[in-house]
Amino acid sequence: MFEQIFVIVICILAILYATSIHKIEEGHVGVYFRGGALMKEITEPGYHLKLPLITDYHEVQISVQTDKVTEIPCGTSGGVLVQFESIEVVNRLKKELVYETIKNYTVEYDKTWIFDKIHHEINQFCSKNTLQDVYIDKFDALDESLQEALSQSLESWAPGIEIISIRVTKPIIPKHLLKNYEARESEMTKLAFEIEAQKVKEKQAETKKKEAMIKAQTEAEVSKIEMEKKITEKEANKKIALIENEIELENKKTETDARYYKEIKEIEANSKRLTPEFLQYALIQAINNNTKMYFGDSIPKYIGENIDVMRKQLEKGEKQSSPP
Ligand SMILES: *[C@@H]1O[C@H](CO)[C@@H](O)[C@H](O)[C@H]1NC(C)=O
Ligand SMILES: *[C@@H]1O[C@H](CO)[C@@H](O)[C@H](O)[C@H]1NC(C)=O
Repeated sequence: MFEQIFVIVICILAILYATSIHKIEEGHVGVYFRGGALMKEITEPGYHLKLPLITDYHEVQISVQTDKVTEIPCGTSGGVLVQFESIEVVNRLKKELVYETIKNYTVEYDKTWIFDKIHHEINQFCSKNTLQDVYIDKFDALDESLQEALSQSLESWAPGIEIISIRVTKPIIPKHLLKNYEARESEMTKLAFEIEAQKVKEKQAETKKKEAMIKAQTEAEVSKIEMEKKITEKEANKKIALIENEIELENKKTETDARYYKEIKEIEANSKRLTPEFLQYALIQAINNNTKMYFGDSIPKYIGENIDVMRKQLEKGEKQSSPP
């Protein structure tokens, strides 16, 4: 009897212990409800104890998480119903605002602010746009406009939730419409290809034109350089000729000057020599020489005597005129 009671007590204690010890994972915090009321206390990752049975706990993720919203219907303004297969919302709950956010929106805060909100935004977007806009023209900007819309309302209503990015996959559209799009797409591709080819051709023509221009320019420059070279050569030649002329002129002048100087000197010398006696002597010598020319060695006696007399006279004169 006593043993049975003991076993029951042990069992109850074990159950109580098991329900009071709990674990909070990394990237999460623990929040506690007592009698349904959220408690201010928040616990970090690790093992914790709580009052058994009375206190409930909940793990809330505060690391970055991706909420995948799937199968979002989209009725376009033209009345076509398409479906977005999935929209991924990357978001994070700020740790310091965990209590307030959960108090405002419960632990299912992301149902209100992400899942329902995405449905609502897509609904609005689709009802304002045609299928063409939804599927092609405005699809590119959809993720950004969704993020902006969500962030804006979160900022004023639930500042604890932060949207990091949104990824939208293309909606699924009815098959017969898809065929039209595919046909159109291939047409567009063909057109784009043709435009591109045209551009390439234009580019090639332009390149050729540029090449020709560059060649012509180069040639013109080369001929200009050659012309300049020739002109420079001619000018140099002209200068050389001028210099040579100058040198020649200078030489001639020097020569003339020299000759002139020599002559002057000769005249000066001669004028010193040209005494009456010298003239007489020269005359006689000339006669003497002429005589020789005409008569050979046989000089007539009277001339010979005369010469002797004159020579003597001359020598005497020179002696008289010279200073003692
Ligand atoms: C909670 O709600 C109040 C009132 O609606 C709001 O002013 C406050 O910003 C909210 N706080 C958070 C963290 O959501
Ligand atoms: C005469 O002859 C002599 C010698 O042959 C020569 O030296 C002299 O200059 C001559 N004189 C003249 C005036 O021709």
